[in-house]
Amino acid sequence: MTKAELEKVFYETFGQGETPRCFFAGGRVNLIGEHVDYNGGHVLPCALTMGTWALLRRRSDDRLRFFSVNFPQAGVLEGTLSNVRFQERNQWTNYVLGMLFALRERGIELSSGFELLVYGNIPNGSGLSSSASLEVVAGAAIRACYDLDVTDVELALLGQRTENGFIGLNSGIMDQFSIALGKEDHAVFLDTGTLSYEYVPVALGEHVILIMNTCKRRTLADSKYNERRSECERALAALQKALPVKDLASVGVRAFEENKHLIENETDRARAEHVVYECARTVEACRKLRAGDLASFGRLMDASHDSLRDLYAVSCRELDTLVSEARACEGVLGARMTGAGFGGCAVAIVRRDAVDAVCEKVGKAYEAAVGYPCAFYVASIGGGPKEL
Ligand code: GLA
Repeated sequence: MTKAELEKVFYETFGQGETPRCFFAGGRVNLIGEHVDYNGGHVLPCALTMGTWALLRRRSDDRLRFFSVNFPQAGVLEGTLSNVRFQERNQWTNYVLGMLFALRERGIELSSGFELLVYGNIPNGSGLSSSASLEVVAGAAIRACYDLDVTDVELALLGQRTENGFIGLNSGIMDQFSIALGKEDHAVFLDTGTLSYEYVPVALGEHVILIMNTCKRRTLADSKYNERRSECERALAALQKALPVKDLASVGVRAFEENKHLIENETDRARAEHVVYECARTVEACRKLRAGDLASFGRLMDASHDSLRDLYAVSCRELDTLVSEARACEGVLGARMTGAGFGGCAVAIVRRDAVDAVCEKVGKAYEAAVGYPCAFYVASIGGGPKEL
């Protein structure tokens, strides 16, 4: 939808008056470095040009009024600044209320309520971070309209705080960070232990990033996610008996091999093994990307997926089908699941002139195996949040 179309819906919903300000933030796709961002590891995500639009207009009272073009049947959802708390019935607005909660924790109170209309074109539940996109775009709109002194990094941290402290998902910082600090045609090589980061050009020449959506509704993802996080914490505690490390990312492959026997629980040990090797793989993959060695980059993506499937157990039949079918195609350099897992999307590096054939072949095989179709998008890498 265009800005003008969104404005029209805004006026129809909330009435005429001052012109709302319009903002956009992308979704994200992670190229490699999965389930390491809550273990202090490096990640390599990109912001997408698919994302979320937010139109905001301040009110003079303390009321909050919300409308989503994507969920018109929910109607206008209402709240007040004096009652910012998580409630099921607040539906998607919990992500916006969470940002108000996180701002308040930092001593920032809004002087008045607002009207907010949102529209997104990230497929729901696809694991391309529609929720982080909503948090960041709402945060960027609130920051601008209330003239708040909040940096992009802080915006990302407020989004993570929303997930951890309001929604109840103990996620890392990757999604919000890559969206809040995205750069066109670049990946963000982020050290989640220190939040230092570098932009890496995604110059793939004759190749593209192909996103393959299982279209499987993610189930159990949240509880399994928090479970993985606890498993990592237990494994770290066991290693800390011998190693002075602050997180699993600091262990290193060699020290891990020498000390892994300290992790008695076999499952916890497998989880830690994934994290330690994935951290090393991501640093290596970034080096390969900078050097333009896409073949090696692709092989590291393959290894990442296999580890997420076998050691970390966050893949599923649908993702495995997409990945193995893609890998079997001519012109595919590597494929892996991306994001939290249990559904959502996989990502592959594919030669541009092979994309149609890959989609055709993988699409047919997927539907035959799974019983419903998948979807494909050639990723286009966008920048950080902006006002339109
Ligand atoms: C989700 C979380 C991120 C990250 C990924 C897995 O997207 O929100 O913080 O942990 O899963 O890499």
